[in-house]
Amino acid sequence: MRSSRIAGLGHFVPERIVTNDDLAELIDTSNEWIVQRTGIEQRRWVDGDVGPADLALQASKDALEEAGLSAKDLDMIIFATLSPDINFPGSSCLLQKSLGVPGVATLDIRNQCTGFVYALSVADQFIKTGMMNHILVVGGEVHSSGMDMTNRGRDVTVLFGDGAGAAVLTVADDESCILDSKLHADGSNYDVLMLELPASRLNPRLSPEMLDEGRHYPQMDGRKVFRNAVTELPKVVTEVLEANGYTTEDIDLLIPHQANLRINQMAARTLGLREDQVFNNIQKYGNTTAASIPIALHEAVEAGLIKKGDLVVLAAFGAGLTWGANLIRW
Ligand code: COA
Repeated sequence: MRSSRIAGLGHFVPERIVTNDDLAELIDTSNEWIVQRTGIEQRRWVDGDVGPADLALQASKDALEEAGLSAKDLDMIIFATLSPDINFPGSSCLLQKSLGVPGVATLDIRNQCTGFVYALSVADQFIKTGMMNHILVVGGEVHSSGMDMTNRGRDVTVLFGDGAGAAVLTVADDESCILDSKLHADGSNYDVLMLELPASRLNPRLSPEMLDEGRHYPQMDGRKVFRNAVTELPKVVTEVLEANGYTTEDIDLLIPHQANLRINQMAARTLGLREDQVFNNIQKYGNTTAASIPIALHEAVEAGLIKKGDLVVLAAFGAGLTWGANLIRW
């Protein structure tokens, strides 16, 4: 049976740093409130008309270079995002155009913060079956152009940042491979965290009245999301470990989705993990949703925190609700 491995990684964030104090000049918030509840100190925002596929281009080029491949070698581009450049076609098509490789298959994944975990699992299956050999998996987001910059949206606006991360998957040739993935969702809670408009279930999809109500901005029941995350994150990590005969002691590094430092600290405590077994960088970037795991994974590798043979777990939760984990022998 074939397996897939991550052969190259890349990430890219916009230059512009927006601190909590910068936000406090726009809305009624404070550095203390944000840091205490989320751990976030700053985030990156794009300047002007820049979409997630633009951010993903440099990340993808770097990941391809590290993998020793050219974009022409790709069989497919999978793009996980909740903030697509345009409504359709998907951001994977826009990225494919920028990479200059017409004919390569493209696929967008709309699983919000769990998008990269789902995307990695999908790519892994295509390689396992032998249908494909090289797949670019991207998580990219631009949130800053869609945030409510009034006090009405301050609970959400302070959380999110822009960025992109990319991984190139190829056929494994030794024990380094994606061992397994566990994926879950609960659509009965779809409205706990959502961006409703423009909505094709409404006619018209958008009206001045709807805009006045702010329904084109993300809506969130923060407490519900928090409760779900601290319950499901440890459960899915345990699930993927146990299914493969491992325990939490075997984890060399857990890379959790970067939504809230408190969530990750509580999940680590539930799992009985030491601090050095968990990687966090939310302090610098805020929540970059589908991009958070590939950015964190690349930074952890660059910092020398992951070496060949290590057991690495990626785990995420988010809107949908969705949650899942990948187990990787590095
Ligand atoms: N700055 C200052 N005050 C704010 C604020 C902000 N940015 N946003 C909300 N508040 C206020 C609220 O209006 C409310 O005021 P009130 O008590 O006068 O009504 C109060 O702060 C709520 O505070 P608290 O109950 O302590 O909030 P919380 O502990 O639930 O924290 C979140 C709020 C959003 C930080 C928290 O619920 C959370 O992180 N949830 C998970 C969100 C998440 O991870 N989403 C992405 C998932 S992928």
